[in-house]
Amino acid sequence: MCGIVGYIGQREAYPVIIKGLERLEYRGYDSAGVALYDGKNINLSKTKGKVSDLKKKSSETVSVKGNIGIGHTRWATHGVPNDVNSHPHYSNSGDLVIIHNGIIENYESIKKELINRGYVFHSDTDTEVLINLIEEVQKKEKVKLGKAVQLALNEVVGAYAIAVFDIKKPNEIVVAKLGSPLAIGMGEDEFFIASDASPFIEFTNNAIYLEDEEMAIIRLGKEVKLRKIKNDAVAYPNILELQMNLEEIEKGGYDHFMMKEIYEQPRAILDTYRGRLLADKGLIKMAGIDQHLDKFLNANRIVIVACGTSWHAGLVAEYIFEDLARIPVEVEYASEFRYRNPVITDKDVVIAISQSGETADTLAAIKLAKENGAFVFGVCNVVGSSIARETHAGAYTHAGPEIGVASTKAFTTQITVLTLIALKLAQEKGSLSKERLNEFLTELEYIPTKVEIALQSNEAIEKIAEVYKDSTNCLYLGRGYNFPVALEGALKLKEISYIHAEGYPAAEMKHGPIALIDEHMPVIVIATNKGHYEKVVSNIQEIKSRKGKIIAVVTEGDEQVKALADYVVEIPDTLEALTPLLTTIPLQLLSYHIALMRGCNVDQPRNLAKSVTVE
Ligand code: M6R
Repeated sequence: MCGIVGYIGQREAYPVIIKGLERLEYRGYDSAGVALYDGKNINLSKTKGKVSDLKKKSSETVSVKGNIGIGHTRWATHGVPNDVNSHPHYSNSGDLVIIHNGIIENYESIKKELINRGYVFHSDTDTEVLINLIEEVQKKEKVKLGKAVQLALNEVVGAYAIAVFDIKKPNEIVVAKLGSPLAIGMGEDEFFIASDASPFIEFTNNAIYLEDEEMAIIRLGKEVKLRKIKNDAVAYPNILELQMNLEEIEKGGYDHFMMKEIYEQPRAILDTYRGRLLADKGLIKMAGIDQHLDKFLNANRIVIVACGTSWHAGLVAEYIFEDLARIPVEVEYASEFRYRNPVITDKDVVIAISQSGETADTLAAIKLAKENGAFVFGVCNVVGSSIARETHAGAYTHAGPEIGVASTKAFTTQITVLTLIALKLAQEKGSLSKERLNEFLTELEYIPTKVEIALQSNEAIEKIAEVYKDSTNCLYLGRGYNFPVALEGALKLKEISYIHAEGYPAAEMKHGPIALIDEHMPVIVIATNKGHYEKVVSNIQEIKSRKGKIIAVVTEGDEQVKALADYVVEIPDTLEALTPLLTTIPLQLLSYHIALMRGCNVDQPRNLAKSVTVE
């Protein structure tokens, strides 16, 4: 899981590549590198660290001139993050240079073979093996670069998005894709290559997204030629017009993408239901559902597959679907589902949830479900992503680009889409009265404003963060609809502040975790006035009598919990099923401030990457 960028055209390639890599750092940021062709030589610079380190190193050590170049930002898989393992990698002759996002699974056997033929390896990476395999094929078969890449890729097992440059053929870059994303930006007399469109959005709105097992030869002054990797069949490019704009992928005055994205939630939720929620007509219109209504209505059950935060959104959906639409739902970690031989039939509807649309485990789960005859529906944020293309139908979340590694607006917009689907199905099945449906539709329209109100607690939350920033452990409790929010709150805190945190259903506390509670343990309790309020109040009493510190998220006007808790944060009142859209806001803010106060890199937490395209 890495970011790749390439440029071939009339501009200076270096600034384009560096800017592009900065935008792709969400994909990995443990090392970075760039290779530029100045008309004579390839100048290569790479380093452990971030793109900012690369900028410093390259400006001090190499010429950064040239109109052709490739760059890489890495999330290590094979080989520790260090200068040598960073990309780009040269072939042994020094003529070929490659950047790669993915994993070559059979690299060891290929490496042995190449060593027997006299190849020498400098890094521990699978990528260096691939570039030497391409070189070996080129030499042995006496073929051009494109053909050599194709033949070599037919020998490898794994996943890749690659860009290869040959100094002997300096007016072209060869790219190929299987399992990892690759977009080609089509400018006038210039081409851009990237893992997503963000590196080239200010230059062109036209892009080709390669399909799996496709490759392209990008030649200056020529049309981009696509072909299938498995055979020589010509593939026809589908040039898409992109909707993304530059503003969306910049910080817009915030210090961090995470904060910007937290604050974007009112707009993101509104964009997600806009045109779908027709409250005045008492209707929900969603093309992906409308066209396949029979599949949903005749399904024995819905199985939700996802990872991380998206899995938490799936858990919220389980409560909503069962509660409102009375359809049985199971929620599975995609990584477990794909390997546990699950019972799936053509009577099942599988919903795959993914912000990036590139998560390897979720993609594999989708493929498995399809092989077993299930109808697969995607809920994705990234338009044109692999999951969006792999599923039979779907609905986008319209959150806009989420760059911060910690998911925030993706979560609330996923819940919004899933709520709309549940309401639509409830309406079709008649499991919800007209009045109750209208109540939901009207209330949903208030949610963006209510999120804005919830965001006004930011300063108060910052003060709470100051008190608990040095904690070593933290418990998050919630019941019913807010149990998944407790899980999500704990995930947010641990991933960006590195404080150990656990989410639990509040009533489970007495079955074990209560033993952890003492005067040093902060417990964040979601105690809104709906559902199991009284039960949660009892749980709070239990914590208090063991001297635990209580930070409670309550409905505005609450007095009972206020009297018990050390701190309370209020959210506006809403329907119980919609509370996760509001209760999650203070938890996002709390983890943000704690992480910041601990000096952590909020947008790029250690060991993580935004999209997990490896299993
Ligand atoms: O792109 P996806 O929604 O498929 O990603 C799934 C998880 O990797 C992701 O939600 C991860 O858990 C986030 N870092 C959580 O903030």
